[in-house]
Amino acid sequence: MDWAVVSTGLKDVAADWLIVGVPEGPFPGAVALLDQALEGTLTRLREQDDLTGKLNELTALRDVSGLAAKRLLLVGLGNLEVLSEPSWLRTVQTAARSITGKAVGQVALALPSGTRLATDRLAQQALTALEIAGRGQDLYRADRKRYPIGKAILVAPAEFSVEEPEAGAERGQVLGEAVNLARELVNTPADLIYPETFANRAAELAEKYGLICEVLDEQRLVAERMGSLLAVAKGSDRPARVVHLDYNGAPPGAPVLALVGKGVTFDSGGLSIKPNDGMLTMKCDMAGAATVLAAITAIARLKLPVHVKGFLGLVENMTGGSAMKLGDVLFSRSGTTIEVLNTDAEGRLVLCDVLDYALSQGSDYLVDLATLTGACVVALGEEVTGAMSNDQAWCDAVLSAAKACGEDTWQLPMFDHYAKLIDSDVADIKNVGGRWGGAITAAKFLERFVKGRPWVHLDIAGPAFASSDKPHRDGGATGCMVRSLVELARNFSHRSG
Ligand code: BES
Ligand code: MN
Ligand code: ZN
Repeated sequence: MDWAVVSTGLKDVAADWLIVGVPEGPFPGAVALLDQALEGTLTRLREQDDLTGKLNELTALRDVSGLAAKRLLLVGLGNLEVLSEPSWLRTVQTAARSITGKAVGQVALALPSGTRLATDRLAQQALTALEIAGRGQDLYRADRKRYPIGKAILVAPAEFSVEEPEAGAERGQVLGEAVNLARELVNTPADLIYPETFANRAAELAEKYGLICEVLDEQRLVAERMGSLLAVAKGSDRPARVVHLDYNGAPPGAPVLALVGKGVTFDSGGLSIKPNDGMLTMKCDMAGAATVLAAITAIARLKLPVHVKGFLGLVENMTGGSAMKLGDVLFSRSGTTIEVLNTDAEGRLVLCDVLDYALSQGSDYLVDLATLTGACVVALGEEVTGAMSNDQAWCDAVLSAAKACGEDTWQLPMFDHYAKLIDSDVADIKNVGGRWGGAITAAKFLERFVKGRPWVHLDIAGPAFASSDKPHRDGGATGCMVRSLVELARNFSHRSG
């Protein structure tokens, strides 16, 4: 998407659509001027109760005389004094999404004044929103449901220079493209994106954005003794891959932030096969890996002064003749032995070896992302990420990054007694902890492999993939937590000296 920042009166901006935020209460200066140019149309709408300014209220006007733009879309901003960055992002997504059902050329958007947000932040969120609102899951529909916006024109309030919004817009576009990348990868069917093709895509993106990328093929995975990850892959004709990405924008000796993603390109459940309804959306089971890949490309494009590594554990969980069986004992890379009591609890079997590998590559602070458990969705609902950690300070850093981005994340406890639930009579641990506390017993399993290093596990089984549309986003992959990871990396630079 092309974009530009201008600083002109709203009535003079030529575009196919002009989107203007209208708060509750008196019209701010630029909106009042627009109202004048439209001979009091906005005042009349307000008097008729058709323009209340309530958050996310949409009013579309076509063929408005006195306006250079062809169409006007008014969107409610609520109370300007409490407008937050996440709600501005969501509001712009909602407004833009209501006009991207048709191909649209130029969309102008007024950056509001009178909020407590800086113009560069408003511009950043606006560009992210406009990028996201132009893409959907209709990747293979001849008759598209969603069209990308041709060009975005941000209209800065007269009292502001355009430089700050320009810097914000540039960042916002990178973030929006990263979210869309994660969405596109997750929305792509499992027959097109599987371990090899996913790894190729990672390598291409690494080349494009200047990251170091190493792809570990089966031979290397065997040499690395990743017996647990390889056991999951055995049931599939598609060989496993692990991808190691490295972006170093930090001074020498800076701590390494490692992002580890579950990349099960399809989860049939294996021999503990899922019923049809449970399997339907399981192309989404590589969302953790997609999130990590998208975030690290954004971090590199933004040239953040940090050292970040990304590790993607890519396998397909299938039921082939060589599939792992119930009762099998796996020899993980760390030496810990694992009794398999449910082949559908495969994500932890993949992540444990990738986490151990990440530690061997000099990772100091770890975050893993995984569509790991249905239990997390039961606990927190479909829109909230579960966080589990062995280090409260590090967990707080992750939670506050997520909060700043408006990505709802909630911590679950990690009391010692949960660990007993994965004791095995046969091996060191078993891969399921029984019916209760399933999100936590999965995290307890992973904790065994991080050697006490600060680590946060993010279970995105709920928010990664949406079953239906919402006013602010299309159904399908959401790209959740991409922005939060970039924010975390931005804050992490304070540790880099
Ligand atoms: N990929 C699933 C978890 C999942 C469920 C993701 C719903 C997204 C939406 C995971 O591999 C899985 O099957 N987990 C099992 C674990 C159980 C066997 C201990 C689950 O949640 O049922
Ligand atoms: Mn599974
Ligand atoms: Zn899974």
